[in-house]
Amino acid sequence: MTATTAPLVRLVDAGKNYGNIIALHGVDLEVSAGEVTCVLGDNGAGKSTLIKIIAGLHQHSAGTYEVESSPVRFSSPREALDRGIATVYQDLAVVSLMPVWRNFFLGNEVRKGPRMDIAFMRRTAKKELLDMGIDLRDVDQPIGTLSGGERQCVAISRAVYFGAKVLILDEPTAALGVKQSGVVLRYIIQARERGLGVIFITHNPHHAYPVGDRFLLLKRGQSLGYYRKSEITREELTALMAGGAELEELSHELERGGAGSADAAKLLGEEVHELGIDRISTGEAP
Ligand SMILES: Nc1ncnc2c1ncn2[C@@H]1O[C@H](COP(=O)(O)OP(=O)(O)O)[C@@H](O)[C@H]1O
Ligand SMILES: [Mg+2]
Repeated sequence: MTATTAPLVRLVDAGKNYGNIIALHGVDLEVSAGEVTCVLGDNGAGKSTLIKIIAGLHQHSAGTYEVESSPVRFSSPREALDRGIATVYQDLAVVSLMPVWRNFFLGNEVRKGPRMDIAFMRRTAKKELLDMGIDLRDVDQPIGTLSGGERQCVAISRAVYFGAKVLILDEPTAALGVKQSGVVLRYIIQARERGLGVIFITHNPHHAYPVGDRFLLLKRGQSLGYYRKSEITREELTALMAGGAELEELSHELERGGAGSADAAKLLGEEVHELGIDRISTGEAP
C-alpha cells in the first residue's frame, strides 16, 4: 500500500477516559480521500469526544490514531490543522459585523507591503465561494446577514481554500431547517468531489444516508456498528438510530421492571425483530 492510498485518518481501538468516565471505548474509524464518513449517535454517545481527538483538542487515552499512516498525538488544533485536518464547529467563530471576505481570511490575512491586500482577498473570497456554488451578490456584506446554512458553507469553502484534506463538520445541520440543511448537504458532496475526506457528525439518519459512504454508529461511547453504504439500507440505518436503540433499551428496562411488564417486553422484542434490528445491531467495524 502506498502513502497516497493510505487512509487520511485511521483510529484503531481508540478510547478516551475523563477521569473515571469512559467517554469512548474500542472505536475503529477510517477516513479516506473522496469519502464522507458519518458519525451518528444520540446525546452522550461520544461523537464530540471522537472529533475532539481527531481535531487535536483532546488526546486519546487508548488505541492508536494515525494520519496518512504515521501515528500522531496532537497537542493542539493548530497541529492537526498543519496536517490538513480542519474542523467547522456548530457555533461558528465568525465576526458578525465584518464583511464575508474578512471572515473568509480571518487569521490568514493577505498583505501587500504594510497594508492588507483587500482587493485580492475580496476577489478571491468571491471566486472561491462561487467555485463551491455559493453565489453571493456582495462579499462586502456583513457575514451576520447570511443565513446559518450560508455561514456553514462559507466556513467549508474557507477550509477547502486553505488546504484542508480532512474536513470535520460538527452537527452542521442540527440548527437548520429542511431547505438550509439541503444547502449544507450539497456542499458536503462538493467537498467530497474535490477529494477531501469528510467526517460528518449528525444525529439525523436522513441527512447522513444520502451523502455518506460509511456510517459509524456510537452509543454510550462504543461502536454499535460500522457500515459501508452497500452494507446498510436507509431504513435499517433509521431503525437503528431512531427505533432500535431505544426500543431495545426500553425492552430491557421493562424486563427488569418485574412480572407485569414481562409481556410488554416480549411484545417490544418482537417489534425490534420486525424492524430488522437484530440482524444489524451486532455489526462490528469491518
Ligand atoms: N470534558 C469531559 N469531562 C467529563 N466527561 C465528559 C467530558 N466530555 C464528555 N464527557 C462525557 O463523555 C460522554 C460522551 O460525551 P460526548 O462526546 O460529548 O457525546 P456526544 O457529543 O455524542 O453527545 C458523556 O457521558 C459525557 O458526559
Ligand atoms: Mg456533542
